[in-house]
Amino acid sequence: MGFLKVSLLFLVAAVLGQSQGSVLNVQTDQPGHEISPILWGIFFEEINHAGDGGLYAELIKNRALSPKRHGMNLDGYAVVKSEGVDGRIYLSTDHPLNSVLTTSLRLNVDNAVAAGQRIGVSNTGYWGIPTRPDYTVYNASFYAKAVGFTGPLTVQIESKDGSIVYATAQVPQITEEFQRYEVTLTPTPALIQNPSIDNIFTITANGPLSADTSIFFNVISLFPPTFKNRPNGLRTDLAQKLADAKPSFFRFPGGNFLEGNTIEERFIWEETIGDIAQRPGHMGCWGLLHRWDSIAPEEMQPYIDSALNEIEYIIGNTSTTWGARRAADGHPEPFPLTYVEIGNEDFVSDDYDIRYPQFYDAIRARYPNLQIIATDYVNTRPVPIRDDHFYPGYGWFPNNHRLYDEAPRNGSKIFVGEYATIDNINWPPQANTASAADDAAFMTGMERNSDIVIMACYAPLFAHLNDLVWMPDGIYFDAAQSFATPAWWVQHLFSVIRGDTYIPTDSDANEGLPAEKIFHVASRKTDTNTLILKIVNTNTEDIMIDAVTLGGIGSTQGGTMTVLTGGRWDENDLQEPFRVSPKTQTFNVTSNSFSYNAPAFSLTILEIQL
Ligand SMILES: *[C@@H]1O[C@H](CO)[C@@H](O)[C@H](O)[C@H]1NC(C)=O
Ligand SMILES: *[C@@H]1O[C@H](CO)[C@@H](O)[C@H](O)[C@H]1NC(C)=O
Ligand SMILES: *[C@@H]1O[C@H](CO)[C@@H](O)[C@H](O)[C@H]1NC(C)=O
Ligand SMILES: *[C@@H]1O[C@H](CO)[C@@H](O)[C@H](O)[C@H]1NC(C)=O
Repeated sequence: MGFLKVSLLFLVAAVLGQSQGSVLNVQTDQPGHEISPILWGIFFEEINHAGDGGLYAELIKNRALSPKRHGMNLDGYAVVKSEGVDGRIYLSTDHPLNSVLTTSLRLNVDNAVAAGQRIGVSNTGYWGIPTRPDYTVYNASFYAKAVGFTGPLTVQIESKDGSIVYATAQVPQITEEFQRYEVTLTPTPALIQNPSIDNIFTITANGPLSADTSIFFNVISLFPPTFKNRPNGLRTDLAQKLADAKPSFFRFPGGNFLEGNTIEERFIWEETIGDIAQRPGHMGCWGLLHRWDSIAPEEMQPYIDSALNEIEYIIGNTSTTWGARRAADGHPEPFPLTYVEIGNEDFVSDDYDIRYPQFYDAIRARYPNLQIIATDYVNTRPVPIRDDHFYPGYGWFPNNHRLYDEAPRNGSKIFVGEYATIDNINWPPQANTASAADDAAFMTGMERNSDIVIMACYAPLFAHLNDLVWMPDGIYFDAAQSFATPAWWVQHLFSVIRGDTYIPTDSDANEGLPAEKIFHVASRKTDTNTLILKIVNTNTEDIMIDAVTLGGIGSTQGGTMTVLTGGRWDENDLQEPFRVSPKTQTFNVTSNSFSYNAPAFSLTILEIQL
């Protein structure tokens, strides 16, 4: 402890005229390293229907009847028909849409359908087709052709039992050749005042129809209004939660998802771009067996080429082959790509030291400005940045918040690319307030060490409540609604309230502040001259800090105080999405020393105007 702090402590004690008690020193006059400007970001991986039926706003399940699905099937689809009408749907490979989407959905009318009756195909969406007050218009599109029928087709969003028709539109005519049809569905406003998921999407033909009628469909698609109204875009409530957290980076696409369960099922990025009618789909890897297949080192070149092409698609100029493809796909400007990670969690393999150099050399040669991230320790090449993952149980993060304090300052920088406290006891398992406080405790350590811990992101980001493969997750949702967990609020707060310069803090454990229960990190935001102090209490009881002292500061102008707290098991859910959420109030204290009672299981952020 330095002389200055000792004298300040003395001063506070003198001012308060009482015994010194527990003290948290904020060494405002001793600024340290720069806080990594990209410290807090997000990691998106396709797991728990994070993308399919999640962030990607497409509402139709099994849109392309993907030939790559295991046991190609009619998942999501059913026949919809008036009582007494005979007909069926099945997969047909005799009427391919094109060379990529070779399976179509065939509707067969088995007996003549009388006037006033209908038959068609329905889709359930991802556990329901949602209606919401803000879903005021939907764009539906599909490819269709028919034999023995020329239209019209009726397109609807209706309740599962057919009793409510939210929106309806017609395609007047179809032909014997596949053609794309598009309609706008505008729900009756009075019907969508409350969110509802008990609905289906239907495309039907009305009688009279003859018994030999066959109608073929493919790429059936339905979009509600999207984030920033982008065609083929993102779901508004989910994308908004990400945008609100002001993340500094976006890690994508994975994760195990990148690898797939087998080499054939890996993430083939070339098949995920362009016209949706030219995408064969991709098999998810969760809930299956990750087989840990590998390619012989001398057969790696095509995979390395594919990675280089992917980078070119992202950052190449429009004179390059793949840069031109990006422009054709609607994004002429390169994306801001800075970091490329080679592999995923390769501590499970024993030949990373062979494969890492293959990618490393190829990427460095072509893109010397890109920074490489390794997923494990490597001897054969430099590791500029290493990706560490942590999924510990409750209590581990507080005990290990000093993990990076002693890490070498001249070694690899650290990217904590996945972390979350796993405390899955209630159903559905999600982050409760106490586990969120645990995460926050570790995050104070990452911010304190952000001279070497340059980036961190919570994982997994999203979970559909009907497909909980991995828990906990940051943001949960059903087909219509969503909520952030306390853990996501911790992420949000650490990210939106940041300084640029680290300010050292220390607390006096001997005087009543239990070092293993109370955590803190401070920084200064230079442009606004704000001191930011984050205090985490992981204790079952409140902890009184008798004096928070601001070293080298006479008085302040006060500021704001934001607190996230709740009971040990408190969680959020669709019914009460903001049960545990941050509350901000004015912080009127202007003294350079004040007491603070940190609530049990809490994150407090003081923003003090200097
Ligand atoms: C829906 O169609 C309208 C009009 O063509 C278009 O402006 C809008 O971007 C489309 N929205 C989506 C999500 O495709
Ligand atoms: C585009 O990128 C290629 C490959 O990196 C380079 O050779 C070429 O000079 C660039 N063109 C422009 C206009 O920058
Ligand atoms: C880092 O510094 C330590 C102590 O000076 C030294 O032993 C070590 O070799 C250095 N490591 C690197 C990667 O330069
Ligand atoms: C802080 O000051 C504001 C403005 O003077 C006042 O409205 C507020 O009630 C005060 N807050 C507290 C916690 O005393």
